[in-house]
Amino acid sequence: MNRELRPLRWTDIRTAYRLACDPDERREARDHSLPTFRGHLRWMWRWVGGGDYLAWVILDQGKPAGLVRAESSFTTWRLWVVDADVPLREQEMSIVLFPAFRGKRLASWAIREAAEKLDTRDGSITAYIRKGNRASMGAFRKAGFRFTGRVIEGLSQFVYGED
Ligand SMILES: CC(C)(COP(=O)(O)OP(=O)(O)OC[C@H]1O[C@@H](n2cnc3c(N)ncnc32)[C@H](O)[C@@H]1OP(=O)(O)O)[C@@H](O)C(=O)NCCC(=O)NCCS
Repeated sequence: MNRELRPLRWTDIRTAYRLACDPDERREARDHSLPTFRGHLRWMWRWVGGGDYLAWVILDQGKPAGLVRAESSFTTWRLWVVDADVPLREQEMSIVLFPAFRGKRLASWAIREAAEKLDTRDGSITAYIRKGNRASMGAFRKAGFRFTGRVIEGLSQFVYGED
């Protein structure tokens, strides 16, 4: 098994664009429209930049097989015990593989590997998955996510590493 996650860089622009245009990826994404290359350039600026946007290329035997990423956002939670608002971070993960690399348990491996790289001290890692997307649910479950019972805008919420 020769698998690796490598941070996304500018030279991955074509690989990332091909993945973004994958029909299954578009069907499962929040925005179903096909990205233009210009729109993809803006996407790359955000995701290569780091910070709240972390992305890794999944390499299988040295070949680009897909992309796994996590986007951070903050929500304020009221903590009644101390009567204060506390910022909690949510890191939303998503993954896409080229069709030729699916069905080899590569997704569950990459999701777990990426989740372990994320800092969870101030929040949680989540994934939002469409009901019929059994491959994605299977991969996230195997990687240590569980369904929270919440469905938001038709997407089931999963969270990493909690009972
Ligand atoms: C989602 C995706 C990354 C999963 O990749 P994958 O290679 O099929 O995933 P894995 O091989 O790791 O499979 C994970 C588990 O789900 C199961 N699974 C895969 N396809 C399935 C299907 N159609 N129905 C039911 N279970 C399925 C597998 O059997 C596996 O469990 P197992 O190891 O116990 O057999 C891939 O299908 C993809 O790129 N889809 C398009 C984009 C997408 O939907 N992204 C998710 C958005 S959050």
